[in-house]
Amino acid sequence: MPIDPAKLAPPGVRTLAPYIPGKPLEELEREYGISDSIKLASNENPLGPGQRALAAIAQTTRQIGLYPDGSGFKLKQALARKHGCGTDCITLGNGSNDVLVLIAEAFLSPQSEAVYSQYTFAVYPIAVQATGATARIAPANPAGHAMPLGHDLVALAQLINERTRLVFVANPNNPTGTWVTADALRRFIAAVPEQTLVVVDEAYIEYVSDSDFPDASRWLGEFPNLIVTRTFSKVYGLAGLRVGYALSHPSVADMINRVRQPFNVNALALAAALAALDDAEHLQRSVETNRAGMAQLRAGFEALGIHQLPSAGNFVMIDCGRPAAAVYDTMLRRGVIVRPVGNYGLPNHLRITIGTREQNERMLAALKQALHP
Ligand SMILES: Cc1ncc(COP(=O)(O)O)c(C=O)c1O
Repeated sequence: MPIDPAKLAPPGVRTLAPYIPGKPLEELEREYGISDSIKLASNENPLGPGQRALAAIAQTTRQIGLYPDGSGFKLKQALARKHGCGTDCITLGNGSNDVLVLIAEAFLSPQSEAVYSQYTFAVYPIAVQATGATARIAPANPAGHAMPLGHDLVALAQLINERTRLVFVANPNNPTGTWVTADALRRFIAAVPEQTLVVVDEAYIEYVSDSDFPDASRWLGEFPNLIVTRTFSKVYGLAGLRVGYALSHPSVADMINRVRQPFNVNALALAAALAALDDAEHLQRSVETNRAGMAQLRAGFEALGIHQLPSAGNFVMIDCGRPAAAVYDTMLRRGVIVRPVGNYGLPNHLRITIGTREQNERMLAALKQALHP
């Protein structure tokens, strides 16, 4: 009897639950025989990329016969200026997802542990488990908390021991949208022992206007065990190109760069990200669209009597008060893709990305239909 070659993979890989992405538009339209559907399932920018990024992509297409600049020199220079750090603090990735996986590869081993919260970004468990390290999962805030289902920093701190190499804190958090304040996060980081790296994932930070909200990159000089990750997939509208980065102490960046593929960020992504950094107008328009959409969704959910979580991102999580799978399915049939989060252990909740005004209207109508047919 031949052996199942899957058994050749180490246990951490064999037992991985693969990441479940938002349903692609094309798949929905193929399966249901519909057209003109909308996707509010993956926290993308409904405006897409700005004109400057598009122009940079068009210009760069002529160069794609060549390998990209593996050092990402120009983009790193621009990011170093933006963050007031040296280029040696920056690691570029094929999306911040790539950076998160590289951090796990560089710092975890089957002998070490990583800590994250109960309802947080699904890539952390995958990145950790693939290395053979042990994941310790902290209970989230209770439903009645001001930040329901969000990070309980005390519970996270309690799980840190001498084997802990990484702690992941998404701020704002996905899928809940909740956040931790500057004071609380700073106190947490200051109390983490120096042999544990704190990864603060700021994928949605550009959307946040709260004066209490931390930009953890400002603390990099103080905490050599701090890593901050950012992405061009959200407010910059470049999710399809895949580019993100980590900011850290140069020694940490050196370690992450050792496991990085030499050309992990493609030429179009490098050019588009560089141009996007210069497009303040698109950034502002994207943030404003999100702010207006957030108000529209809040009012719409309230009118439908739906419980909604606080959110500082470009998405809102709602509690349908019943299994969300049927609600999701009815919305799909009306051409609206949102995100069920049963895989996060939240079977009654849906995570909904904020779209344009028209998309939001259509989503709210589909939701109403699904809840009150
Ligand atoms: C909290 C968080 N971090 C990181 C990412 C990864 O984004 P990307 O790999 O596109 O940069 C996401 C994407 O949804 C996210 O929600």
